[in-house]
Amino acid sequence: MTRHFLNLSNAGGDAIAAMIADAIDRKAARAGWPKGKADADAPLAGHTLAMIFEKSSTRTRVSFDMAIRQLGGTSIVMDGGSMQLGRGETLADTARVLSRMVDAIMIRTDDHAKIEEMAHYATVPVINGLTDLSHPCQIMADLLTVIEHGVALPGSEWAWLGDGNNVLHSVIEAAGLMKFNVRFGVPQGYEPDPRFAVEAEKLGAKITLSRDAQAVAKGADVVVTDTWISMGQEHVHNKLAAMMPYQVTEDLMALAKPDAKFLHCLPAHRGEEVVDAVIDGPQSLIWDEAENRLHAQKSVLLWALGKL
Ligand code: CP
Ligand code: NVA
Repeated sequence: MTRHFLNLSNAGGDAIAAMIADAIDRKAARAGWPKGKADADAPLAGHTLAMIFEKSSTRTRVSFDMAIRQLGGTSIVMDGGSMQLGRGETLADTARVLSRMVDAIMIRTDDHAKIEEMAHYATVPVINGLTDLSHPCQIMADLLTVIEHGVALPGSEWAWLGDGNNVLHSVIEAAGLMKFNVRFGVPQGYEPDPRFAVEAEKLGAKITLSRDAQAVAKGADVVVTDTWISMGQEHVHNKLAAMMPYQVTEDLMALAKPDAKFLHCLPAHRGEEVVDAVIDGPQSLIWDEAENRLHAQKSVLLWALGKL
């Protein structure tokens, strides 16, 4: 069966653990090498990844492009608007055509139903580079980052503050698969889709909503936030005001465990969801987290192409 990576549950906990272990090994094996040089085993030599962007991207675009190069393959990067897709060719037809020419497809789009449609018609793996619903590739990098910094995932306490968005959905999904707990503080009206918490709780994770940012941060191992206004959303003044009590400040970080880690998928809106003193502070892992997009995406590609 074609291995699509639309959400973390497509892989499952064991495969996620295997991908993280592979990423740690590959990262160590090429330490200090020029970034464009292929890994010694070049496991995806001869393979081509097509990428479609219907939304802006820096990290996802560059990490996947460098990932496929380091694995020995090549990439084609396309903006949706300059493809026939942008003139109305269907995703189904696009998927069928690309499947005849490339080995895997990564797409960043809005409606998650679009990526599901693409996966339905593609005969090569389709990877979710972010939809309005989820961002599983980001969370692969986040898991890798906190593990590298000594967090044991099972039983760890994660605190999410801010918007109940696509990134939170994937954090909650990961909690069920990797056995950690998530407390999230979001304002009324900005809650995440409850389906993710239902599934995570079935797998034994504790997923808790609180309106009290301090209670959310208290005793956390990992504190996470993201932009209050995601791509494609209206810049609503009311939303910013509602989010303000959930801003990650030094006072809030002080309530977490003394060695708590701070994550942000970036791009950040400093002074909105997080203050400079936290995002640039000693507990922030954001640059490792950004770099780990590359290492994690390599393992996602290897898993999707049946090499892991
Ligand atoms: N974190 C993330 O997905 O960044 P980009 O939007 O730059 O790809
Ligand atoms: N929630 C953000 C993540 C950006 C990487 C968005 O969807 O815009």
